[in-house]
Amino acid sequence: MGKFKYAGIKRSLFTATKLSLLFAALFIIAAAGGSRQTQRTLQSTSPFPIGAAIDPGLLQHNPAYRHVVETEFNSITAENVLKWAGVHPVADRFDFTKGDILVAFAQDHNKRFHGHNLCWYQYNPAWLRSFNGDSLAWEQLFKTHIQTVVAHYKGKIESWDVVNEAFHEDGTLRVEDTNPADNNDDGCIWARHLGKDYIARAFEYAHEADPNALLFYNDYNEEISPAKLQAIINMVKDFKHRHIPINGLGLQMHININTPQAGITEAMRQFAATGLQVHIAELDISVNPKSDTAITYSTDLQNRQAGMFAFVVHQYATLIPKKQQYGITTWNVGDADSWIRHTYRRKDWPLLFDDNYAPKPVYDTVMNVLTAVKAGRR
Ligand code: XIL
Repeated sequence: MGKFKYAGIKRSLFTATKLSLLFAALFIIAAAGGSRQTQRTLQSTSPFPIGAAIDPGLLQHNPAYRHVVETEFNSITAENVLKWAGVHPVADRFDFTKGDILVAFAQDHNKRFHGHNLCWYQYNPAWLRSFNGDSLAWEQLFKTHIQTVVAHYKGKIESWDVVNEAFHEDGTLRVEDTNPADNNDDGCIWARHLGKDYIARAFEYAHEADPNALLFYNDYNEEISPAKLQAIINMVKDFKHRHIPINGLGLQMHININTPQAGITEAMRQFAATGLQVHIAELDISVNPKSDTAITYSTDLQNRQAGMFAFVVHQYATLIPKKQQYGITTWNVGDADSWIRHTYRRKDWPLLFDDNYAPKPVYDTVMNVLTAVKAGRR
């Protein structure tokens, strides 16, 4: 009996341990499942695609970066690797290695891929700047590049920024360097060698190489440069008239906390009126436009930045008709990899994720706006 009792206690102890282990396991599974179901991300919350400019090195070597890209975004833009200097580093050779890594990642994770870009006045390889040839040779070079790159990614890259930043702030076409003394060529090698209608031909060449790809013109400062905005609108009208295959406009939106909001509204209204796809293609909101070296990311600056992010997302969701919403892409993922810090060598915190890829308070603001617009509460 005693033995039995003892054995019984042992058995019930054993059973209790087993049960508590089982409950613990069930709890962990339920908690994990529950948090999976309830863990909202940008991509699961947004009514339109949400993307980021991605660097393949960070994607491969930084697990925190990769995790954010995998979970938060459903559209990928190549930050640099598909630009001329990235994909065509020497005259007689294309290098698709890094572009292929990004595109394979996008395919594996079921994300849209936006190609950036086929033609720009910057980020061109040294060999191109010293290329010697008559206008026919230049045209051939231009066409071959566009068609080789687009054909390589045919069926894998859904859309392209075909031409990037062709206009000056005053609405004139970039051609010659406006200030040869400043060691910064703001003219455009393509306009100089191919003539002013190179933009239209770039779209035609890209369309020939992949008739299904959506083709975009992409530029910045439309919200503060009415003449540039007008030049783009005029170009679209002209292209439609001539049946040049253009599908969308990229509004880069490298803005800051002081950017006048009326200009943002106006640019979105005018882009919407073209009937084309509208992509906020490179969004970031600087809190330090004056490059203050003593600045800190104060609560006040964070709140002002959150207000501006909320404004942009809300305006996009309400002013751009749903069928024209190609989505919003931020330029980079975390503040540490922002091009603004590297290019302007200043302190800044322009993105939704911090230096360690944790979501910032401004991320929550954007999530709230996305939730509201998705629910139709505008
Ligand atoms: C930037 C990249 O982020 C940098 O890494 C690179 O050094 C220069 O180009 N407008 C554009 C983008 O269209 O291609 C630019 O990207 C940022 C401004």
